[in-house]
Amino acid sequence: MDSIIHSTAETAIVCTQSSQVLASRLAEKLTCSLIPVMRRRFPDGEMYVRIEFPPENPPKKIILIGSTSNHDDIIELLLLNDACGKREIILVLPYMGYARQDQLFNPGEGVSARAIARILGAGVSQVITVNIHKEGILSEFSVPARNISLAKEIAEHINAVIAKDAKPLLLAPDGGALGLVQSIAAIYDFDYDYLSKRRISSEEVIIEAKSISVRDRDLVIIDDIISTGGTLATSAEMLIAQGAAKVHAICVHGVFIQGAYTRLKHCGIEYLCSSDTIESAGSGFSAAPAIARAIREIL
Ligand code: R5P
Repeated sequence: MDSIIHSTAETAIVCTQSSQVLASRLAEKLTCSLIPVMRRRFPDGEMYVRIEFPPENPPKKIILIGSTSNHDDIIELLLLNDACGKREIILVLPYMGYARQDQLFNPGEGVSARAIARILGAGVSQVITVNIHKEGILSEFSVPARNISLAKEIAEHINAVIAKDAKPLLLAPDGGALGLVQSIAAIYDFDYDYLSKRRISSEEVIIEAKSISVRDRDLVIIDDIISTGGTLATSAEMLIAQGAAKVHAICVHGVFIQGAYTRLKHCGIEYLCSSDTIESAGSGFSAAPAIARAIREIL
């Protein structure tokens, strides 16, 4: 059973509009209150927020939670941060957008991960991120920042939903996601491998598992982010052509832009889901238990 971390008057949760389901799950896990926020727009589209702090025993510490999937999310987090006044804030960024431009690739570019970390880290006491695109970004926050992984939640979800009939083969879409896949595989002793590209000609590339045969196997491709789903769709089609029994796909952050969810289902992916770091009907498991564990260690 989850332990009570603090009296509800001491610590409370405030969330952005787009992280309200995850925040309410977190509030249940931590047995602390989720304070309502009143939001409206000025005629020119600018955002207004007011945190409805209880007049009696207002909280001293705030867990401020919000993914930054779009510009409004970023502005809302900044306004909520300001509305918290002098209270101590623990900022939870379940999905940190703008993290993929994490270094200078060409002269003159803005390094968006650094810019966003700088503004969001201002005025908070610490930051928690979830499967951030690259851990190196954490050093751009001006306060202590810690990244947590949903490996346990993903492993449990695969075990409960996909691995009922046969032990699946977990696949990282590339070497970059191999660490995440390895840590998930270790929990239930699943087989794992990663996908590599083999060039056949100047026109043709074959995507295949590096060392293990996919024939007649139930595959689960696991990535931190599915955005357009482009590479994943091509990989799934090729793995099915190579004799895979079933192809499933799971990610932490389901961005699913440009009709990605539909495209991936259409190309033969049997089961597709993400966590609720970006809330959608495709959220099949929650990041709340992992975030709650991290917060209990802090408080
Ligand atoms: C890349 O570094 C990430 O880990 C994902 O593989 C990538 O963001 C997925 O993008 P898309 O879904 O557009 O192929």
